[in-house]
Amino acid sequence: MNPSILIVKDLWKSYGQTDAVQGLNFEISKGVFFGLLGPNGAGKTTTINILSGLIEPTRGSVLIDEFDLFSRPMEAKAKLGLVPQNFALYPTLCARDNLVFFGRIYGLKGRRLEERISCVLDIVELADRANQTVATFSNGMKRRLNIAAGLLHEPEILILDEPTVGVDTQSRNAILESIRSLNQSGVTVLYTTHYIEEAQRLCDRVAIMDQGKIIALDSPARLIGDLGKGMIRVEFSAGIDDTLLDQMKPIGLVRVVDDQKRRIHIETDHVDQASKEFLELMKRWDGLLKTLDISGPNLETVFIHLTGKNLRD
Ligand SMILES: Nc1ncnc2c1ncn2[C@@H]1O[C@H](COP(=O)(O)OP(=O)(O)OP(=O)(O)O)[C@@H](O)[C@H]1O
Ligand SMILES: [Mg+2]
Repeated sequence: MNPSILIVKDLWKSYGQTDAVQGLNFEISKGVFFGLLGPNGAGKTTTINILSGLIEPTRGSVLIDEFDLFSRPMEAKAKLGLVPQNFALYPTLCARDNLVFFGRIYGLKGRRLEERISCVLDIVELADRANQTVATFSNGMKRRLNIAAGLLHEPEILILDEPTVGVDTQSRNAILESIRSLNQSGVTVLYTTHYIEEAQRLCDRVAIMDQGKIIALDSPARLIGDLGKGMIRVEFSAGIDDTLLDQMKPIGLVRVVDDQKRRIHIETDHVDQASKEFLELMKRWDGLLKTLDISGPNLETVFIHLTGKNLRD
């Protein structure tokens, strides 16, 4: 395996009573496409902001390519590029002038800066929009410019916080494709998302995060193989009673998801058989079934299996 470019040990961050990050430990090998997957409030942005040197942890250590982020911040930060969750762009400036501004922050100037600007505009496919004011950009274009800014100084590890939120499918695919080809050219990628399919499709390794902790970390295939279950997710038109709950128990592991007993999950290793049995049972409860979602093992069912809740709730 390649050497690690990022080593995180016992990372904690508290905001008053809120423990946003609670003892993270993980390493990322050079060249890996690494995903931090978790629901709203899991602590993804807090983690990314600590790793990028934007906020200080309550305790813990971060090594970036063997430089300690807190005692050698200049060397460590030079290795990483950050693409933040919120746009860090000047709307009144054109794309190129935004990049000039960010390039200077990274200490780039003159010919070198011009070259890097052309290069990153090509990567995110905005070369033909270089002189257009950012205020006129779509969300997808702003996202891409945000990524370009994070790439100016040729970082070895690119850290992106929810790079595809709020953009249409086409832009999303373009963004993911440019991140993927950067990764293929050797850049290590750490990105956060709450889109399961994205993480499953793109990542070599995924850390599933919930309530400030990493609750599972492996390749998507291993996570799904070890922890994935088939899942029947049901919404009823009214709260159900214990008789029905008892009748469902032979089908699989039944979990009531809400207080009104209108939503349940049934976990099973044999989703086809279980679905048949469930539908057979529902024939006896006319009109009760409102929505039904049946899925085989995937990263989302891994998350539900581990936490008892949906990623998107
Ligand atoms: N500056 C802050 N002050 C107080 N609490 C904060 C602050 N920043 C984050 N938190 C809290 O820390 C927890 C983790 O937040 P964080 O933004 O890291 O989550 P996230 O996984 O990025 O969520 P999202 O998917 O919504 O972006 C939340 O409970 C949040 O309310
Ligand atoms: Mg966030």
